[in-house]
Amino acid sequence: MKALEGVKILDFTHVQSGPTCTQLLAWFGADVIKVERPGVGDATRKQLVDVEGADSLYFTMLNHNKRSLTLNSKNETGKQVLERLVKTCDVMVENFAPGALDRMGFSWERIQELNPRMIMASVKGFGPGPYEDCKVYENVAQCAGGSASTTGFLDGPPLVTGAQIGDSGTGLHLALGIVTALFQREKTGRGQKVLAAMQDSVLNLSRVKLRDQQRLEKGPLTEYSQYGEGIPFGEATPRAGNDSGGGQPGRILKCKGWERDPNSYTYFITQAAVWQQICDVIGAPEWKEDENYATPPARLPKLNEIFGRIEQWTMTKTKFEVMDICNPLNIPVGPILSMKELAEEPSLRDTGTIVEVDHPERGKYLTVGCPVKLSDSDVAVERSPLLGEHTDEILSEVLGYSPEEISSIRESGAV
Ligand code: COA
Repeated sequence: MKALEGVKILDFTHVQSGPTCTQLLAWFGADVIKVERPGVGDATRKQLVDVEGADSLYFTMLNHNKRSLTLNSKNETGKQVLERLVKTCDVMVENFAPGALDRMGFSWERIQELNPRMIMASVKGFGPGPYEDCKVYENVAQCAGGSASTTGFLDGPPLVTGAQIGDSGTGLHLALGIVTALFQREKTGRGQKVLAAMQDSVLNLSRVKLRDQQRLEKGPLTEYSQYGEGIPFGEATPRAGNDSGGGQPGRILKCKGWERDPNSYTYFITQAAVWQQICDVIGAPEWKEDENYATPPARLPKLNEIFGRIEQWTMTKTKFEVMDICNPLNIPVGPILSMKELAEEPSLRDTGTIVEVDHPERGKYLTVGCPVKLSDSDVAVERSPLLGEHTDEILSEVLGYSPEEISSIRESGAV
């Protein structure tokens, strides 16, 4: 049995944030019914197409283990089918632009009338307030949630990150909200509304920078490189390049071959507890007892010099040799791994973190499997559905329509 077995999800999501959430719930065992516009479907099916005529990787990698039902929710018969779905399902998940569901005639009040146990979960760009009506995509959320202003180098513009913290990050927040609401419903018998705003989720993931904003009011941020460089701080948490976000200074350093390979780098953390080992490894034993280097506060103004010296050593090793040498000494380091290296890493295949899936239109492709492993709820990643692949099956098995009724639904153009 799977953790969420028996839970039916009316998946009205599209693009990335909502589908991330419902894919996770599907992996945990929920029956996820993806509702898509007839003939059109989720816009990502045909975005960034790499195999002509096939669903894109963008779509397939976000919609595994789901069933697809086409339904025109603006058609009268379509609305009746949707009502039946609302009555039958436990959770409705959507990430339409603000107001779209109300315009369809499915306000929260109406949904509660139809099914008081329904949990209605939404992703929106912003929570209630001046921007609540805005449409929002990933990078807008990264900018509005504080991530971009604190990412990048001090002398450069704000930067967005490659990790999709606005979309996938919000989807993960929403999934947690949904299972929490399901847990509460066990006791109260009532559904509730769950909202994850992309700005809130990005800010939640950027909380150490709000921490630093408040520390900045008390004085300079001594663990930031600019402190040692004598560059004054402004009013807001600055961009800190690759400085560590925690109390143990760290940097990205070049490794052997960096001139040819853009990913021949390592992250190196000068954790206080292993300072002696670091000094020995890099060939600077004199720093162990020298009062100008021996304590963390003494080192803070000299981070450029210290990391420069460590880099002289890392440049003589590959990123994997650095790992092999430092790990046994408990020195925290990490190679910069490219997507190519990750795709080819056997240990990630063994754990199901990266899986190969077969698809009737596109053949074999790689995807990221379930990132959370439950010992008693196994995940088998199944290919994403074709558009409307399960329409008849859902109408009959889930909603109980007879073959004649299904024919008349089809004739109405609702599916
Ligand atoms: N049948 C009939 N109509 C349907 C339908 C269906 N099955 N599914 C969607 N539609 C309609 C909607 O009702 C809406 O119509 P309306 O504008 O008349 O109300 C229309 O399709 C477009 O939906 P919308 O959500 O506005 O899509 P968009 O492509 O214009 O905007 C986003 C995309 C992502 C910007 C927007 O949905 C959004 O801001 N979502 C919330 C934040 C979010 O999740 N962003 C990240 C996405 S990864």
